[in-house]
Amino acid sequence: MKAMRNKWISGAALVAAALAGTATIMRAATPVEIEKKIDALMARMTVEEKLGQMSQTTFGELTDQRKEEIRQGRWSSFFAGGTAAEKMEAQRIALKESRLGIPLIFGEDVIHGKTTTFPIPLGQAASWDPELVRQAARVAARETAAAGTNWTFSPMMDIARDPRWGRIAESFGEDPLLASRMAVAMVRGYQGDSLDAPDSIAACAKHYVGYGAAEAGREYNTTWIPENLLRDVYLAPFHASVEAGVATIMSAFNDLNGVPASANAFTLRQILRDEWKFNGFVVSDYTSIAELVPHGYAADGADAALKGIRGGVDMEMVSSDYWDHGKELIAAKKLDPKLVDEAVRDILRIKFRLGLFGAKGLATASAPAPPTAAALETAKKLAAESLVLLKNENGALPLGQSAHTIAVVGPLADSQRDQIGTWANGPADSAVTPLTALREALGAGNVMYAPGLKNSRDESHDGFAVATALARRSDAVLLFLGEEASMSGEAGSRAYLDLPGAQEALVNDVAQAGKPMIVVILAGRPLTFHNVASKAAAVLYSFHPGTMGGPAIADVLLGKAAPAGRLPVTFPRTVGQVPIYYDHMNTGRPPSETGPEASDRFRSKYLDVSFTPEYPFGFGLAYTTFHYDDLHVSSAEMPIGGNLTVSATVSNTGKTEGDEVVQLYIRQLAASLTQPVRELKDFRRVHLKPGEKQTVEFTLKSSDLAFHNGAQLVTEPGQFQVWIAPDSSSGLRGGFELVR
Ligand code: BGC
Repeated sequence: MKAMRNKWISGAALVAAALAGTATIMRAATPVEIEKKIDALMARMTVEEKLGQMSQTTFGELTDQRKEEIRQGRWSSFFAGGTAAEKMEAQRIALKESRLGIPLIFGEDVIHGKTTTFPIPLGQAASWDPELVRQAARVAARETAAAGTNWTFSPMMDIARDPRWGRIAESFGEDPLLASRMAVAMVRGYQGDSLDAPDSIAACAKHYVGYGAAEAGREYNTTWIPENLLRDVYLAPFHASVEAGVATIMSAFNDLNGVPASANAFTLRQILRDEWKFNGFVVSDYTSIAELVPHGYAADGADAALKGIRGGVDMEMVSSDYWDHGKELIAAKKLDPKLVDEAVRDILRIKFRLGLFGAKGLATASAPAPPTAAALETAKKLAAESLVLLKNENGALPLGQSAHTIAVVGPLADSQRDQIGTWANGPADSAVTPLTALREALGAGNVMYAPGLKNSRDESHDGFAVATALARRSDAVLLFLGEEASMSGEAGSRAYLDLPGAQEALVNDVAQAGKPMIVVILAGRPLTFHNVASKAAAVLYSFHPGTMGGPAIADVLLGKAAPAGRLPVTFPRTVGQVPIYYDHMNTGRPPSETGPEASDRFRSKYLDVSFTPEYPFGFGLAYTTFHYDDLHVSSAEMPIGGNLTVSATVSNTGKTEGDEVVQLYIRQLAASLTQPVRELKDFRRVHLKPGEKQTVEFTLKSSDLAFHNGAQLVTEPGQFQVWIAPDSSSGLRGGFELVR
């Protein structure tokens, strides 16, 4: 079977091709063969074996009892724990000693790398470099597959517009287009060209859907999302991932418009299966089937199983309601056995596609090896591209030759565990911290170090005097501030976004030394740090940057690399502005910073803080400067079904080379539903030498202008504004009309 397959094609594409009669024999044969094999297996499976296929739990240890359960077909999948040898043995038992020889599928949370830890996903999104993100996911896939894991619970593509929510760290930020590009890149990286290749693993698009809209940014909280917003924003990355062939989907914890996402037939059956033709499988989140009871959606475990299966969740993670109640529900004729069959088919299909029934199932796995030099190089490149320069007064950065003696201060300067971020899989001891990298680059004798605080939450001022004394003896102070890895990620919601502990007081103290202060913030979310930024000559933001974060930061500080990241999320001035995101509606009383409206009280704004963000989405400085001119829209009109081009010339007007991320935004001025003040439609990273200019041209299709009105995807004629811009709050503006 494997020899016949030359390329894995997405299920939806195959179904479409088969229906249209256009599938080539080579390409169509394998899925058809797979369906036949599934038929043959299903005909022999007992109800228990089917329910076993719908069950997943944590691996723990390979005890005799566990071995016997595998022989009996009790489990479809394990995740978390287990050595490579134990996984191989468990798989051997499943394939050789269970009645039907159905392989297990081993999952794992490889979120931003396995042994090589890449920046947290929010940092990866800050690179605005999908190709590099794909390469990083490829590295992760190789390292994961080699250790005997077939499936990662990644990418997480929840749109996150609330920095209080700790899982913003695991997200690609606030924008559906950027998140979709990143999600697709990761899916391609994990799954490779062919799912059954030895170094490919199945991806899992999570958390389906709406999880990031948790009210008040409080973890696991309720979400209310109208259908147009759900489809245009929250579902967009999932749809893109399904089109890219993602093998699995994870249903979310949250209650969505009154129906928990893990029993939501509207999103899981109507949209995912009927509309998008997804034919991989859906796994619940951790105990999210059992949680239908506390949600108030199911009366007890049996009801939860019924609603989970009916809702469209194929595999239950950790809780065991499907196993415990499935048989009795079928016997009582409450549960249609066809639904169980459909779920099992979907699961087996992915196991076949992964090649687990064949040689890949019995492939040798070994304990994770240390990162290769090539993997570390990719990690360093991605970390460098993820760094966002937010302030650089009078060219304070890169550090010049005059900075002979540096004082390194702050709790995040030398914390391996914290810099690798919230869901780091690999050991922290391979992480190179900024302190280590700076000592290496400048010579240990030129780098003085005093953390000032034991960790980011430390309230004690005991270490301040030493830190300030070092600052006095230095030419420049590098302050490494932020938050620990454990302060973001799952169950990492915060109600305050300030630098925790006594960090601000530390900055005030060190400022007394009167030396230029360069602040580097390492965090899992946008923080509010206005006072600190106003005292600093430069601010570099680093979403927890992973194993090679230190060398990447040192290179940028010293000018060996240029900062090239752009914000994937809006930074608020204060937590009171949250949620704040660039593609908001205009309101009937839009506020303004200029003109007579600026002094008009009766505008959509605050009395005590500006309505504008601290830093807008898409923003990031370079060491050079870029100038935009010559905006050209190829036509005043675009017919529905047609397209036009928008171009502008971008020039490097500074003294060094640099990368600019050129962004294309649109706005529809009047429509049957109000539309955002701006929406990102495309972007391109360009590298320019000093004095060099480049005309950047984007093609805009009328389908790019579509939006959902309820379930309906509509394209409405009317006036559009279009920008080519360095960020979401500025740029060159033009216009055109969409006509029938
Ligand atoms: C998280 C998921 C994760 C799962 C398995 C849950 O608590 O929400 O993102 O994949 O655990 O570890």
